[in-house]
Amino acid sequence: MSIVIKGGLLALEEGPVRADILIEGEKIAGIGEGFAAEDCQVIDAGGLLVLPGGIDVHTHFNIDVGVRSVDDFTSGTVSAVFGGTTTIVDHMGFGPAGCDLHHQLEVYRGYTDGKCIADYGIHGVVQHVDDRILDEIPSMISEGIPSMKIYLTYDYRLGDEDIIRFLDRMRREGGLTAVHCENHAVLTWLRQKYVREGKLQAKYHPLSRPAYCEAEAVDRMISLAQAAGNAPLYIVHVSTGQAACLIRAARRAGLPVYGETCPQYLVLDDSSYEDPQEGLKYIMSPPLRAKEQQDFLWKGLREGYLQTVATDHCSFDMHGDKQLGKDDFTKCPNGAPGVELRLPILFSEGVKKKRIDLNTFVRVVSTNPAKLFGLYPRKGTIKVGSDADLVLLDPDMEVKIRKNILHDNADYTPYEGMKAAGWPVMTLIRGHKVVENERLCVKEGFGQFLARKPFTVDLFD
Ligand code: URP
Ligand code: ZN
Ligand code: ZN
Repeated sequence: MSIVIKGGLLALEEGPVRADILIEGEKIAGIGEGFAAEDCQVIDAGGLLVLPGGIDVHTHFNIDVGVRSVDDFTSGTVSAVFGGTTTIVDHMGFGPAGCDLHHQLEVYRGYTDGKCIADYGIHGVVQHVDDRILDEIPSMISEGIPSMKIYLTYDYRLGDEDIIRFLDRMRREGGLTAVHCENHAVLTWLRQKYVREGKLQAKYHPLSRPAYCEAEAVDRMISLAQAAGNAPLYIVHVSTGQAACLIRAARRAGLPVYGETCPQYLVLDDSSYEDPQEGLKYIMSPPLRAKEQQDFLWKGLREGYLQTVATDHCSFDMHGDKQLGKDDFTKCPNGAPGVELRLPILFSEGVKKKRIDLNTFVRVVSTNPAKLFGLYPRKGTIKVGSDADLVLLDPDMEVKIRKNILHDNADYTPYEGMKAAGWPVMTLIRGHKVVENERLCVKEGFGQFLARKPFTVDLFD
């Protein structure tokens, strides 16, 4: 049966338009008026915004960091769809030392296939670089994994020579390299110093990973990408104005450098670390920053030099593994939940408070992630022929955020008590109602694996 979504304000790429949407099968079949036939199911979107489904390109479901995160791909994607995110692209965790790129892909297909509610893709993860790894890049890309992540810290950080070789090959094969930017020597030095001095509370976590630690790493990565023939580069979880300005400068120089920030860096700040116990909730890397940094990140979104907002959802329980850090912040598993609140927070704190307009909101939560990560125009836009992944958002609904209204498995939310103005009330994926009247309408395994296309710079710029 066809579906008509009637009377909503559609967030089209060219701007908001009041029109109806005809859905046939899994696709958008028409945008306009006069679609309703007798055998159509009509969804009344009067007073609502109709958005392309959100795309969160930075989650860590079911990740093993020594302890395992509490959200798997089922609870994580249930939470996603309740928050208006219809596609996730997950960053795989590290595998055993020396493993090849396909090793973790196999492991993650095991974690994901038959388990997801939202549609899903997977980013590759790089633990070392040699000829064998480089020669796997073409097959990873042809199997639908055109983006891979490297780290400048943690156990499997890469050295500069290896990074250049990797970036160069990714560029030639149509890959986009994502990178976690923090200077490992700086943060290791500072962490060891604080531990030696007995400064072990949560508030030393941000002090051990200062803003310059991120900025140095971003600056270096941009240079390495230039050396690799202007390889495309995607900087994940940008948390500081310094890093955002470096990305702006690179883009002004014509380099294909892209930046992602996250809701936590836009609306939370380092005062959250003051209480030693509560502070554990916010131990994530990079850490929350001084409040003044937030303006630079909003400006980056508004002016287009930060292209995406993703969550870095990586959840551990406060009554569980987060307590590993209670006597020593360096032992606390890094990460926080957030996949369900990305659209509500961005809409409320961004659009409602006039920090960004509706077009920018849609671009950063949906269209840009789709373009960068090989999903456009199937996903990320309301166009005839695109998947009917749609979110109906009530711009006037006010919700006080509480853990008990959310659907992820974590036992807390970093946004407890915050008021959201605007809330998603219905989610469709490929023309199927997935959330309606606060109920999940599909079963585990509904979400499909998305074999993503190679990266092309033209599509984006
Ligand atoms: O603290 C965080 N962000 N944990 C997840 C892993 C990462 O660095 O993205
Ligand atoms: Zn990271
Ligand atoms: Zn991450």
